Parts: sequence; structure tokens; C-alpha cells
Amino acid sequence: MEKGNELCIDLGILNQEELTQTGEMIANGLSEGDIIILSGEIGSGKTTFTRGIVKGLGCDPVVVTSPTFTLMNVYVCSKTVFHIDAYRLGSIDETFQILENELEDEDGIFIIEWGERLKEFFKNEVISVYFEHVDESHRKLSICARKDVLERIGRCLEIAKKIE
Ligand SMILES: Nc1ncnc2c1ncn2[C@@H]1O[C@H](COP(=O)(O)OP(=O)(O)OP(=O)(O)O)[C@@H](O)[C@H]1O
Ligand SMILES: [Mg+2]
Repeated sequence: MEKGNELCIDLGILNQEELTQTGEMIANGLSEGDIIILSGEIGSGKTTFTRGIVKGLGCDPVVVTSPTFTLMNVYVCSKTVFHIDAYRLGSIDETFQILENELEDEDGIFIIEWGERLKEFFKNEVISVYFEHVDESHRKLSICARKDVLERIGRCLEIAKKIE
């Protein structure tokens, strides 16, 4: 599947446990400086998926809370995660102000809910995850990124499947 010059993988229709596990697996393929943009309607599983990533990075997932009001949460796991919700941020400038110092360091992983507006600024540097509400207990996920980045992440998903 191709969207512009990005490649996409369909991750299927997942229940909550599978969605969390997918986040956990993907965590193994993340590198410092990765920017992950999570897109999907309210309640589609963006924060739940973030819990999976954070768990995969060795933190207790209960540390993950929705950053809607705090603007940015920081989780210090095997890699540091900066978790942002752009939903309430008035402008792209405001989001950049919050991220400014952290982006300069490039030594964390950035997870941005409702961050699709930021995509044009990062060009192909982002990993996009799309969440669709299927029914009360299932969400459809797809992940898109530049070919080499997607291959890096895809390898984790393949390896995890083989081990199962
Ligand atoms: N398959 C599933 N995957 C993820 N969450 C699920 C699933 N099925 C049901 N849920 C429920 O849907 C809700 C998802 O909430 P979550 O906070 O992760 O969404 P969100 O996309 O971050 O929402 P918001 O846009 O408000 O930040 C939770 O209450 C969770 O229990
Ligand atoms: Mg959320």
C-alpha cells in the first residue's frame, strides 16, 4: 500500500489486548529521534497504543495518562518518551514551542496524538499510525512511514509473529 512517497502496512482489526501488544512490539523497532503521529477519532485507541509502546520500552504502562491537559508527559523508560496531545493546542507554533528543546536534543521518542497537522513540517521523517473505530471493542490500524523506517518496524512485527 502506498500513500505519497510513504509505504503503509495494514495491521488489521485488533482488540484492545492485540492493539496494546502491537504497540509493545513496535517499541523494539523505535530509534531515538523517531516521531510517531497518531491519528484517529476520539476513543480510537491512541493513548492505549502509547501504553503498549511504553510497556515495550520497559516502563509500567500505568504511567501513561492522556496528555490532553498537561500538554506533554515525559516517561523515562529504556528510551525517553515525550507524549503530546495536539488536540487542544491552538496552533502548530504552540506545539513547536512545547517541543522545541526536546526536538533539538533528538534523543527521545516523540508520540503525538492528533498531530497530523505537523506532518508537513517533518516531511518523511514521521511514523504515522492511523486508528479507525470498527466496533465497541475493535480498532483497525495501519502504519505508514518512509520505506527504510517501515522495514525497521516491520522486522519487529515479523520477528514477534515468528516467536509466537
Ligand atoms: N480494540 C481496542 N483498542 C483500543 N482501545 C479500545 C479497544 N476496544 C475498546 N477500547 C476502549 O476504547 C478507549 C480508547 O481510549 P483511548 O484513550 O486510548 O483513545 P484516544 O484515541 O487516545 O482518545 P482521545 O482522542 O480522546 O485522546 C478505551 O476506553 C479502551 O478501553
Ligand atoms: Mg488520547
